[in-house]
Amino acid sequence: TKQKLWGGRFTGKTDPLMHAFNQSLRYDQRMHAADIQGSIAYAKALTRVAILTPDEEAKIVDGLTRVGKEWADGVFQVQPDDEDIHTANERRLSELIGPLGGKLHTGRSRNDQVATDMRLWLLDQVQDIEQSVKGLLRVIRGQPIRWSHLLLSHATSFRYDLERLQQLIPRISVLPLGSGPLAGNPFAIDREFLAKELGFASIAENSMWGVGDRDFIVEFLMWASLSMTHISRMAEDLIIYSTAEFGFVTLSDAYTTGSSIMPQKKNPDSLELLRGKTGRIFGNMAGFVMTLKGLPSTYNKDLQEDKEPLFDAVDNVAASLKIAEGVIATMDVHADKMAKALTMDVLATDLADYLVRKGIPFRETHHISGRAVALAEARQCQIHELTLADFQGLNANFGPDVVEVFDFEASVERRTAIGGTSKAMVERQVSVLRALLS
Ligand code: ARG
Repeated sequence: TKQKLWGGRFTGKTDPLMHAFNQSLRYDQRMHAADIQGSIAYAKALTRVAILTPDEEAKIVDGLTRVGKEWADGVFQVQPDDEDIHTANERRLSELIGPLGGKLHTGRSRNDQVATDMRLWLLDQVQDIEQSVKGLLRVIRGQPIRWSHLLLSHATSFRYDLERLQQLIPRISVLPLGSGPLAGNPFAIDREFLAKELGFASIAENSMWGVGDRDFIVEFLMWASLSMTHISRMAEDLIIYSTAEFGFVTLSDAYTTGSSIMPQKKNPDSLELLRGKTGRIFGNMAGFVMTLKGLPSTYNKDLQEDKEPLFDAVDNVAASLKIAEGVIATMDVHADKMAKALTMDVLATDLADYLVRKGIPFRETHHISGRAVALAEARQCQIHELTLADFQGLNANFGPDVVEVFDFEASVERRTAIGGTSKAMVERQVSVLRALLS
């Protein structure tokens, strides 16, 4: 059997369960492209400090490219002793190009390598997720019907989610490579060159921090938890509004499922899963913060536990954004049902405001309006069915124009201050989002 990469000081065998426990290749292989990319940049940097000749660099880069292609084509042969993506790629490189492959890891550690890979991988994923948040924002503003204000309230949360996601990027984009196992690189490796080559915005200024920091993962998990919370709250609105009792929206067949026993059912499983996944993503975040808490400085193998929660969160948040977009883009909205659900008592505040405009302090008008509601209740009628004499019996300032209060459209149109539900202010929200997305 082949030697482990770190086998020199060992004489005894690894316990088989320990081997499986330690092995991360089954999940970290999804970073294969980032690992190859990082190694290619590192090979070039080694040439610049004369550890490799240009010819050796070319052979290594060619070998790494071939390893990367094997992964991409799904033909990479995993060996039992491949501990993680880093050892697997290096093992394969040496098989392809011989002992020269063993020069690549000069001055590098898996500690700075894995931290670099994770950042490269996440930067790439964040770009896709950013597009999905924008997609969700686009379908929401595409429904300029009256209940647009409600949808736009959710869109406003997503707008700040987008902003927060973009603000994470500079903190993910910090280069660990060149930190070595913890103390730094003894071959004067040009880290500015590495950063440029790999597209990092800045360089980890402290090598111990560089290999030991996973705050960028915590921040992403926190971002995912919060934006899933927003998706969940929107889902909850739509679940209620899609019930038979409300019937404000009908979800398309594409995003619903049937019941195995109740033939009439159309279950909003998409929305319930969006709500449900939120708990799991929060769990990934809370669990990983627990992993970090109490770790001593620099790299510890505990940090390998960053991968599954991050990968799971990325997968589920990416899918959730697409599902949410699909649900909204395909649902039918029933304005007639919403209109039918309106009751005149929701205009009681407008009735109080009517008297405010006649000069009466709001605290009094609130009380008068409340008495009008009570009177209508006693008469078993709706508030707008009270007579002018009824109103004047409550307050002398009521005039015949009180009938104008009982108009839902007019009520909505009075909310003309910025952020209100008047048509102009809804259009303003749409144009703010449009400008953001263009
Ligand atoms: N698979 C490891 C991880 O994901 C790579 C780093 C290994 N470093 C070490 N000191 N054992 O964290």
